[in-house]
Amino acid sequence: MEQGLLDLHNLLRWIVLFLLIYSIARSYAGWKQKKAFLNRDRKAWLFTLISAHITLLIGLYQWLWGKHLGMLRTTLPPGFSIMKDKFYRFFWVEHPTFMILAIIMITLAYGSAKKPIADDAKYKRALWLFIVALLFILVAVPWPFRNIIGRPWLPGT
Ligand code: HEM
Repeated sequence: MEQGLLDLHNLLRWIVLFLLIYSIARSYAGWKQKKAFLNRDRKAWLFTLISAHITLLIGLYQWLWGKHLGMLRTTLPPGFSIMKDKFYRFFWVEHPTFMILAIIMITLAYGSAKKPIADDAKYKRALWLFIVALLFILVAVPWPFRNIIGRPWLPGT
């Protein structure tokens, strides 16, 4: 089950990225072309939100109780400094912090759909929040080419 959750967390990254880019494209088109806000836009934003929240829940589990890195299951040697160790600093501090911030942005962006504001303001607000979320995610994913912290592109590869 542990490996399955990690694999799911890995795969969901692609779904989150795909939906985020789709939501950005729809928000940009809606804002630039002054379109009326559609239920289809709200759904695109909602699926982005759902995929990000599922990834968050699995991430929280791995962070706290995960077999490899769960903070509550790991005993480090006395005097060990997490902040001086690139691997632990990334997986215990940087990755969760940036990802949680990105998910807050995605949640706020989805909230734009319900705000009593003009449609172009909805699109514009969501657009910037989604772009910041995308940048945070791109920076904080353990891409395979990253030294020490790199993880596979896809599960099992
Ligand atoms: C959209 C949000 C997120 C994305 C795209 C993402 C992406 C990833 C990816 C691609 C991996 C490597 C998986 C593998 O080794 O196959 C990973 C690992 C990990 N993530 Fe996330 N993550 C996200 C959110 C979070 C959050 C919010 C947390 C913690 C609160 C978290 C905690 C972890 C941990 C602890 C690992 C290492 C797990 C292990 O090796 O046992 N992630 N994440």
